[in-house]
Amino acid sequence: RASINLAVIAGDGIGPEIVPEGLKVLRAALAESGTELSVTPYSIGAQRYLDTGETLSTADLEALAGHDALLLGAIGDPRVPAGILEREILLRLRFAFDHYVNLRPSVLYPGVPTPLAEPGNIDLVVVREGTEGLYSGNGGSVHRGMPTEVATEVSVNTAHGTERLVRYAFELAASRPRRHLTLVHKTNVLVHAGGLWQRTVDRLAAEYPDINVDYCNVDAATIYLVTDPQRFDVIVTDNLFGDILTDEAGAVSGGVGLAASGNINPEGDFPSMFEPIHGSAPDIAGTGKADPTATIASVALMLRHLGLAGPAARIEAAIRADMEARAEASARGVPLRRTTTQIGDAILAAMEDNR
Ligand code: IPM
Ligand code: MN
Repeated sequence: RASINLAVIAGDGIGPEIVPEGLKVLRAALAESGTELSVTPYSIGAQRYLDTGETLSTADLEALAGHDALLLGAIGDPRVPAGILEREILLRLRFAFDHYVNLRPSVLYPGVPTPLAEPGNIDLVVVREGTEGLYSGNGGSVHRGMPTEVATEVSVNTAHGTERLVRYAFELAASRPRRHLTLVHKTNVLVHAGGLWQRTVDRLAAEYPDINVDYCNVDAATIYLVTDPQRFDVIVTDNLFGDILTDEAGAVSGGVGLAASGNINPEGDFPSMFEPIHGSAPDIAGTGKADPTATIASVALMLRHLGLAGPAARIEAAIRADMEARAEASARGVPLRRTTTQIGDAILAAMEDNR
């Protein structure tokens, strides 16, 4: 690939602090590989909503659709009622651009602090469905505000949507050394959706005889993530279960400050979007305390998606080296205290050292 035409939504809170660090590392990685980069910032987020009442317009969607990929910092602001920006910007982008694969890897690097006493070797990927399930906005209520109120949220699971996601997860499992795929659901209670997911996995399993497939109820999966995370390699699950499990997976593998994600449209009909899984962290916005590592790792996921595995691997190696530097400093009893920019600089320097 000779060039990347990137759209950037820095967004809210710490977004405008972490995104420049991601871009800095991206530029350096691409300079080495000779790929041209053009970056178009979009001022989508809380400030525009407060100024104009607009979240994401049709014109925005049209403009964004013309890019090769989107990099997003964070969306969400205490000045705006909870949920508006998240639903009207983040979820709308995922649905409009058919980001049915929400890819969320969790790797515990050596020496990184984890709340687990015996974490073992955590290296798993959650393949979370991104366009269906309970996020589809189907539901309603009657007798609102009255003692007789009844509210429903309907989980939408289509054969098409489930099959394409599960197939992606099988292919991913086939590319990893352990070749292990776990369906996480709640099929013992959610018989309709669960049945569809289980039948889809069973049917595709026949096409992938060398993948070792198992099943885990979501409640048990939350236990295993803290007692025995090594049992997981690739997890495939629906939108809400995946949301919950990936926060937990992030927390056990060094914190959500390190956790990257890709909202992927594998066919390339629409640009895919890469973002840290953490939020806008308004409590630390402007303090320089935000860790840009998750954003930088999201940039690596983006490069891989765009077919630039070389530069992606260089960024990942630099992140690993920085993690080692952190671990060594902590082991010496002098944990590194670095600002957002200093962490970005350190990862950049680690990348250049490795050249
Ligand atoms: C995430 C976030 C979003 C989600 C919110 C902000 C709508 O928690 O990306 O995991 O639930 O998907
Ligand atoms: Mn979440």
